[in-house]
Amino acid sequence: MKTTFPNNFYWGSATSGPQTEGSLDRSETIWDYDFKNNPNSFFEKTNVKGDAYKRYPEYVEWASKANFNSLRTSIQWSRLMPNGKNISKKAVDFYRNYFKSLKQRKIKVFVSLFHFDMPMWAMELGGWTSRKVVDAFVDFANKVFENFGDLVDKWFTFNEAIVPIECQYLYKFHHPYEVDMSKALQSLWNIQITHHKIVNNFKNTNLKSEIGIILNITPAIPRSDSKEDLEASEWAAIFQYKALLDSMILGKYPKKLINFAKEKNIMWTIKKGDWELMNKKKMDILGVNYYQPIRVKTLESRKPNPKFIPNEYFYEHYDMPGRIINEHRGWEIYPKGIYDSLMLIKNEYNNLKTYVAENGIGVQGEQKFIDKKTGLINDDYRIDFIKNHLKQVSKAIQDGANCNGYHIWTYIDNWSWLNAYKNRYGIIEFNLETQEFKPKKSFEFLKNLYKNNYFI
Ligand code: BG6
Repeated sequence: MKTTFPNNFYWGSATSGPQTEGSLDRSETIWDYDFKNNPNSFFEKTNVKGDAYKRYPEYVEWASKANFNSLRTSIQWSRLMPNGKNISKKAVDFYRNYFKSLKQRKIKVFVSLFHFDMPMWAMELGGWTSRKVVDAFVDFANKVFENFGDLVDKWFTFNEAIVPIECQYLYKFHHPYEVDMSKALQSLWNIQITHHKIVNNFKNTNLKSEIGIILNITPAIPRSDSKEDLEASEWAAIFQYKALLDSMILGKYPKKLINFAKEKNIMWTIKKGDWELMNKKKMDILGVNYYQPIRVKTLESRKPNPKFIPNEYFYEHYDMPGRIINEHRGWEIYPKGIYDSLMLIKNEYNNLKTYVAENGIGVQGEQKFIDKKTGLINDDYRIDFIKNHLKQVSKAIQDGANCNGYHIWTYIDNWSWLNAYKNRYGIIEFNLETQEFKPKKSFEFLKNLYKNNYFI
């Protein structure tokens, strides 16, 4: 059976500056700092080996060969404004040349402004807990619009805005590895305020492009319909996406969260004018990243965590019997979750224009799948994964969801935070020893899909 997609669907891929560009000509970020101080926490002690800073023409060439009509990357704050004050001319030249070559190949340029890459100088000011950092980042965004406004088609203030908050201040995955709900709540507030400020400034420029944010809309699925499990999933949803989406689309903030913070004496600081900001100009587009659902149940195997860590205080994860897991990443594979995410936006968030901004599967040791005849990685599992998810995207569109595109994560295998190059997500293999790029079997599949607008 044919699965078809609307005309002018955005077909392409997502990547990010910090995961592909390397550290030449930019200032230190939290990732460089951690790698310098604690290389053992990175898989096989490996830092970014990609060099899109120099090799961007090849990246563009591959995007074109794969028939992309759009590509997302990010502009690194640490590169454009290494000390947070002055603009680097080299950075302007680099990004302009990169974007121009995409445009020459008729590939639309999608740019995120923050992809987990906090510069160290900004971290020392308090990172997202600090209003100084909010102001400095808003200034960075203004500079980005001035320097690249003529080349970029879609802007995204943040990639997965909840991730730096939970990874930095709740679950200890990113520097500074703290457990501090009060900092997490302040960062959550500051990040949505930053988003609103940038959107408002953008709307006061003459730029005709669109602006939005990319969020990992991971549906929170309760184990059962019991009152307790439903309450657990309501809390999981608040942290996962509701606080951000309510603020950014509906202009409100969950009362439940505010009441909780007041009751526990960890209410964050709200500045004069913050509430008004929420109801000024609104964003145009939402990028939906989807990898896995969160299944939750009420807390039953332990006492509530005294530090209010969400998955040990409000709910706990529910390992549903029979669920399918990608063992390499430990994430559940549940294609219907992408349908649910898109329908959530349709039903609860004014059916705002969306596109799938990231979806994909990371697999370790793909060399073992090399086809002896062709020498290419035979990643049928990736093709199946994409097809199964795209069928759900198509169904959501038929059911009225305003979804306008699909970007695979990712096209050329890239570095992935603490997992470095352990799990490969690409449709193009990156050989760390020879630095060569080689298409996998999925490359051919996507190339045809992106050209034809359908698959069988
Ligand atoms: C998303 C991020 O969370 O998922 C990417 O936007 C990331 O930066 C991708 O690489 C895959 O996750 P991971 O942790 O396996 O690299």
